[in-house]
Amino acid sequence: MIRACDLADLPEGESVRVLGHVPIAVFHTEGQLYAIDDTCTHQDASLSDGWLEGCFVECPLHEASFDLRNGMPTCLPAKRPVRTYPVVVTDGVIYVDTTNIREGVA
Ligand code: FES
Repeated sequence: MIRACDLADLPEGESVRVLGHVPIAVFHTEGQLYAIDDTCTHQDASLSDGWLEGCFVECPLHEASFDLRNGMPTCLPAKRPVRTYPVVVTDGVIYVDTTNIREGVA
């Protein structure tokens, strides 16, 4: 488990980049927490800097969009999914479970 931040420090509509074995982006949207690989699968952009809309994040560089629930790209230019990670909140702290990586699935 990797500590992301206090839940109070990640309000709805915000994201945070967490450094684990790879950078991970954690999003708080629509009352849920989601964690995905932070690096876009198209080129080297940080998805935590992207635009959040519902359960989707738009890459800030070329505007590919990813579904936070399963990591799948929803439009070009990204063709490959990002990995997703379970998120756990314990005692008000957000943790990312990097032992249970989920490859993107349709
Ligand atoms: S780097 Fe993300 S769409 Fe190009």
